[in-house]
Amino acid sequence: MDNNSNGHHSPSSHGHGSQGTAKISKKIRIRVRRQDGPDKLPYWQEFEIPYVSGHNVLSALMEIRKNPVTINGEKVEPIIWESNCLEEVCGACSMVVNGRARQGCTALVDKLEQPIVLEPMDKFPVVRDLVVDRSRMFDNLKRIKAWIEIDGSYALGAGPRQDPAEALERYKMSTCMTCGVCLQVCPQVSVDNKFVGAAAINQARLFNSHPTGHFKADERIDALMGDGGITDCGNAQNCVEACPKHIPLTESIAEIGRQATVRAVKKWIGL
Ligand code: SF4
Ligand code: FES
Repeated sequence: MDNNSNGHHSPSSHGHGSQGTAKISKKIRIRVRRQDGPDKLPYWQEFEIPYVSGHNVLSALMEIRKNPVTINGEKVEPIIWESNCLEEVCGACSMVVNGRARQGCTALVDKLEQPIVLEPMDKFPVVRDLVVDRSRMFDNLKRIKAWIEIDGSYALGAGPRQDPAEALERYKMSTCMTCGVCLQVCPQVSVDNKFVGAAAINQARLFNSHPTGHFKADERIDALMGDGGITDCGNAQNCVEACPKHIPLTESIAEIGRQATVRAVKKWIGL
C-alpha cells in the first residue's frame, strides 16, 4: 500500500514509505499549443515550474510568464491568455485543458495529470496562443435580443410580480458567462458555420420567460428559426454535460424548440 493509512495526500515522497511509494514530481510541467497570430501556424512548447501546492492553470501560467524559458532552455515570448475575474464568472479564460474545454482559473493543477496540455478552443478563431475570438457568442446574443427593453432611464416603478420558483429557475439560466464551452463541445458548431449554439438558445428562453422580456418573445423565436438557428441542433447533449454553470441547456433547447413550433403554426394559420 503506497498511501498514508490516514488517507492524507502528501505532495512529495519523503523516502520513508514502502518501496512502492510513487515519487511525485516536484515540478509542474505544462505543454502549450501556441500560435503567434490568427494566420500563423500553431506549434508546441513545454515549460516547467517548481511545484507549489494550490496552483491553478492561470497562476501556473503567471509563474511561467515571469521567466518564459522552455524545458529546452530557449527564452521565448510570454504565453498569452485572457482572464479577468479569476473565479469562473467572466468566462474569458476558457481553454482546452488536458483535452477538456473549461476555465483555466478553476482548473486546479493538483487535480490534473501532467504534463498539463493547454490548447485554445478550436471552434473559435485563434487571436494568439490561448486567446480566441468569442465575438460569435456576443453576436448571437444580439441576434436573439438578449435583453429587456426599457423605455428611458427614468424610474419605471415596480416591475411585474414574479413567481419566486420561476425566478429561481431563471436565475440559473442567467448565470451563463458566455464562456464558449458549450460551443466548443458541440459537434454542430464549426469555426466557420452559423449555428448559434446552446448559450444563445438558453438566453432566448431566459428572456422569453421574463414577464417584461416576454414582449419580444416572437422576435427572439423568429431569429432562432432562421439559418443557424434551433433546427441545426443535433441533440448531442454535450453542452449540458460540459457547461461549467450546470445550466439545464437541453431543457432550454427543448423549450425553445416548442416555442418555435407554436410560432410556425401560428404563422402558417396567419396569426
Ligand atoms: S451556457 Fe454554460 S457553457 Fe455555454 S457559454 Fe454559458 S456558461 Fe458557458
Ligand atoms: S478569469 Fe473569469 S472565468 Fe476564469
